[in-house]
Amino acid sequence: MNVAVITGASMGLGEEFARQIAARQQNLVLIARSEDRLKALASELEDRHKIRALTFTCDLSVVGAADKVQEFLTEEKLHPTWLVNNAGLGAVGGFDEMDAARVHSMLMVNMTALVELTHRLLPQMRLSRDARIINVASTAAFQPVAYFNVYSASKTFVLNFSEGLHEEMRGTDVNVLALCPGPTPTNFHVTGEMDAALFDKGQSAADVVRMGLEASDHNRAILVCQRQLPIFLMNYMPRFAVRMAAGMVARRMMKKGVGSKES
Ligand SMILES: NC(=O)c1ccc[n+]([C@@H]2O[C@H](COP(=O)([O-])OP(=O)(O)OC[C@H]3O[C@@H](n4cnc5c(N)ncnc54)[C@H](OP(=O)(O)O)[C@@H]3O)[C@@H](O)[C@H]2O)c1
Repeated sequence: MNVAVITGASMGLGEEFARQIAARQQNLVLIARSEDRLKALASELEDRHKIRALTFTCDLSVVGAADKVQEFLTEEKLHPTWLVNNAGLGAVGGFDEMDAARVHSMLMVNMTALVELTHRLLPQMRLSRDARIINVASTAAFQPVAYFNVYSASKTFVLNFSEGLHEEMRGTDVNVLALCPGPTPTNFHVTGEMDAALFDKGQSAADVVRMGLEASDHNRAILVCQRQLPIFLMNYMPRFAVRMAAGMVARRMMKKGVGSKES
């Protein structure tokens, strides 16, 4: 059975990916740590769209997580055709004061799991006539962001990795997209202990996912989901000015008196 594999599907953008891909009549494998949420979503989508939706509860920050996902797919005789590498987490604050476990999770989930899962699933995906990889990066990927530094650097990695893979897959049936949302009202700022104000004004998760799926339909390499002007203007600003401005925005995301702890 062909399936779309979605990481971080228990809430936020990942849940929205599950809803919109299910509406396209695709079978799903939903991955995250929150088993109850995954199961409830899978059952709802199976009923509503008459598809199969399986769940795999997995902590993607653990070494070997991608191998576990691959083993699950093989055991269940599932053929991955779409992969949405969406799971991720952030943290704001001074680097030297950041919680060590959260730094480790950011690196493992945002980068290692994304690359290893893509690496494990791509050979099978290449057998499909309509294979998709959607890697969720961020507008934070386009410049260094002081006080959001590990997160933004991890998303720069995702952006560059995805663009490189897009080129490697040129002329094949595998579309690779780096989706770069701006601040989006999900649970992201809650687990990251960030001030909600910036996120509340952002595009909805439903709009971000709809635009991402359309960009993937057209095999675009990158989609930026916010006003393009600031990113466009950055190309004409000196690098020191860009990093100072980005750091000022990130400092505004810090809640007063709150550090960064593991979610
Ligand atoms: N919201 C924004 O403003 C924004 C902007 C740009 C980019 N993004 C990116 O968008 C993606 C989705 O974030 P979101 O906004 O939807 O945030 P969210 O609501 O916090 O959802 C994050 C998802 O990632 C999963 N996850 C986190 N740690 C995990 C782990 N160790 N193992 C497995 N799954 C894990 C969570 O599931 P469990 O907790 O159940 O494991 C959850 O399903 C992330 O890559 C984020 O960096 C978000």
